[in-house]
Amino acid sequence: MDLNNKVGVITGAAQGLGKAFAEALLSKGAKVSISDVNVEVGRKTASEFEKKYGKEKVLFMKCDVTSSEEFEDVFKKTKTKYGNIDIVINNAGIVNEKHWKKAIQINLMGSIEGTLLAIQYMSRSTGGQGGVIINIASAAGLQPVFTMPTYSASKHGTVGYTTSWAQNPENTTNGLRFNCICPTFVDTNIIKITDDNTLSKQASEQLLQHYGVMGVEKVVEGVMEVITDKSKNGAVLKITSQNGLEYLNQ
Ligand SMILES: NC(=O)c1ccc[n+]([C@@H]2O[C@H](COP(=O)([O-])OP(=O)(O)OC[C@H]3O[C@@H](n4cnc5c(N)ncnc54)[C@H](O)[C@@H]3O)[C@@H](O)[C@H]2O)c1
Repeated sequence: MDLNNKVGVITGAAQGLGKAFAEALLSKGAKVSISDVNVEVGRKTASEFEKKYGKEKVLFMKCDVTSSEEFEDVFKKTKTKYGNIDIVINNAGIVNEKHWKKAIQINLMGSIEGTLLAIQYMSRSTGGQGGVIINIASAAGLQPVFTMPTYSASKHGTVGYTTSWAQNPENTTNGLRFNCICPTFVDTNIIKITDDNTLSKQASEQLLQHYGVMGVEKVVEGVMEVITDKSKNGAVLKITSQNGLEYLNQ
């Protein structure tokens, strides 16, 4: 898949992995619609991208993925500005065991809402031209993690939701592909250990040491691979510092 002039929608893209996915798409000639609940950092990122890649290639909007209204607005305005949507990356996420309902709302329900909007806007049967939907889950969605049970549950849910959609027989006619990305620890703000995001700070430190921390480039490589390689349709991609990219169900 040639990314020149393709359009990517990325949630939670002010910083961290979302920002890195957006930059990777821009560097291949794509246009991006980036959104985040953090408006200050989001605007800064957007203006950085505008200077580097041109104003016409970047759209930034405030979007809290728990707000159906704001989320739908992202898709509407992206379609109005660019005419089409080709790639949707549901990336926004938090780790919070104290406010566990919020974590489920953002991580799991946000990915579900983003997937449904992507299907609505990209399906050929509803006027789209097909496209690829990538949900950012986690290695915590493939195995239990006793320090963060809610996070693990939200990511298991995201894996189940994405792989279930991947089996829908109507995907071929609608031109839709689905992938799920499951990395271990990546060097972003989310891995900072706080009282709110773990049941045991000490055990979390040990887990970090055991698995190690990857740079964002490794995950960007995986995401770009599933976007551009249509044969990876439906795959769950596990990414670790030890083994790199591993396709689990191909
Ligand atoms: N960094 C890791 O170790 C790691 C590993 C596996 C999976 N992930 C997943 O990758 C994704 C990106 O995380 P990251 O590592 O870049 O962390 P990050 O904290 O750097 O970025 C997350 C972004 O999501 C935004 N966000 C939070 N709540 C939101 C909401 N309600 N609506 C919209 N945006 C919201 C934040 O403002 C932030 O910009 C998350 O889904 C995370 O679970 C991260």
